Amino acid sequence: MVIPGHVAIIMDGNGRWAEQRGLPRLAGHRAGTENLRKIIEECVNLNIKHLTIYAFSTENWQRPPDEVSGLMKLLETMLDRELKSLHKNGVRIRHLGHCVGVNKRLVQKITEAVELTSGNSKMVLNVAFNYGGRDEMVRAVQGIISDGLGVEEITEESISDYLYTAGQPDPDLIIRTSGEYRISNFLVWQGAYSEWYFTDALWPDFNEQELYRALVFFGKRERRFGQISAQIV
Ligand code: IPE
Ligand code: IPE
Ligand code: MG
Repeated sequence: MVIPGHVAIIMDGNGRWAEQRGLPRLAGHRAGTENLRKIIEECVNLNIKHLTIYAFSTENWQRPPDEVSGLMKLLETMLDRELKSLHKNGVRIRHLGHCVGVNKRLVQKITEAVELTSGNSKMVLNVAFNYGGRDEMVRAVQGIISDGLGVEEITEESISDYLYTAGQPDPDLIIRTSGEYRISNFLVWQGAYSEWYFTDALWPDFNEQELYRALVFFGKRERRFGQISAQIV
């Protein structure tokens, strides 16, 4: 199996998963979190070096307040419960996104998780939380201007260096669950040449088998990056 260096996942469909069972939406998010634990573990086993998960978008604040606070709580619980074993497994946690509007205790926990795991090198787990691709670009431009970069210093590389993913390779494979075919403000810059895999499976049902299917799909792609087949070795 071809193992991509960087896999990114839009974990979508928790709400529908719950609705189908007559459960509150938060029960779907809880099930989604359980599933995430397994998928992270499997990605570590598969020796995937970078895994990016979309946990909460800058647009998700517009959801009903109890869903938003439930999601915040879930992330906190997840950090409390999983940090130790992630650290033990050599996972380095990075946060993609900003902390404006996020409650202090959660910010503290995110910071602790990032710091504690900063020396790990088995896998980088990017948690896109309070993340938006456009917001990321706005911040990059602000950073570039405040650092006083000259016009000639504005290159694809320097822009990449101002994104949350600075220093990391672009995603090779982006998976979106739940049968939606859109980018929803995820890795807008970094995903320029990613392979996309869509599945109807709702996120809590996206198991190891589904992950292998996505990887098999990825292995069959010919990535041409603008060239023609004959040029690809
Ligand atoms: C994805 O599931 C999780 C988050 C956006 C936090 P959804 O909550 O979007 O589930 P659906 O799309 O309503 O089914
Ligand atoms: C994208 O899912 C965000 C996350 C998975 C965290 P959404 O469910 O919020 O996306 P839209 O709004 O349907 O495009
Ligand atoms: Mg959704």
